[in-house]
Amino acid sequence: MTLQGKVAVVTGGNSGIGKAVVLALAAQGANIVIDYIADEQATESLEQQVRALGDRVIGVKADVSNVADLETLVSGAVNAFGRLDIMVNNAGIETRTSVLETTEEQYAKVLDINLKSAFFGTQLAARQMIAQGGGGRIINMTSVHEDWPMPGNTAYCVSKGGMRMLTRTAGVELAAHGILVVGVGPGAVDTPINKATVADPAQLQKLDGAIPMGRLAQPEEIASIVAFLAGPGASYLTATTVFADGGLMQSSPGL
Ligand code: BGC
Repeated sequence: MTLQGKVAVVTGGNSGIGKAVVLALAAQGANIVIDYIADEQATESLEQQVRALGDRVIGVKADVSNVADLETLVSGAVNAFGRLDIMVNNAGIETRTSVLETTEEQYAKVLDINLKSAFFGTQLAARQMIAQGGGGRIINMTSVHEDWPMPGNTAYCVSKGGMRMLTRTAGVELAAHGILVVGVGPGAVDTPINKATVADPAQLQKLDGAIPMGRLAQPEEIASIVAFLAGPGASYLTATTVFADGGLMQSSPGL
């Protein structure tokens, strides 16, 4: 087990990619803080799964678009487990609205949940890692759309483009402290964010058809990359993004 005794916070940790990340880190021996905003029951059942793997876990209800809540999350990890080694800024939403139709409220919500949370999550985690010493890992869940336009999902693309530069800049700033900052850029993944597409056979066929591998990723196929990036095998990776999109970005316009 590569993460024995490490302490990890996963934002948006009780569903989708976040849930798979929680289980992948726990499978490597990490103790986990699951951040969530809704569905207490899902969090509790995930906590049981983590305990069954032999690890310690707490759930913290925190709205990561709010810096005070992020402080509660990071201090929750330190109070429960004494330290923080791995911060996974995973929480994210999309509105599927174009530049012409996106409202101020939609823009603010997407940018706050996706980008502001990652910015201040990085800041607070890094401060804790510096205070305790010994470095750490910060992993930002971005998207192929940190680089690749998705017409009709503009605020989301703006937020992911921001996460791209957050990852690069914070990675450079924090390298001297032994803190590595890496992005993970999935393509289409079978999670709640793609529920409508997956539920519509015509849309799903179109999406699958655009992916050279011919299918969406399962969340576990993204989570395994996060577990690798948090571990000893990724000791020289920082200020960059690892894409996992089944070849999507190289093949066609955004769908
Ligand atoms: C978006 C999905 C989209 C996928 C591939 C993801 O980042 O959340 O809505 O299907 O990228 O374009």
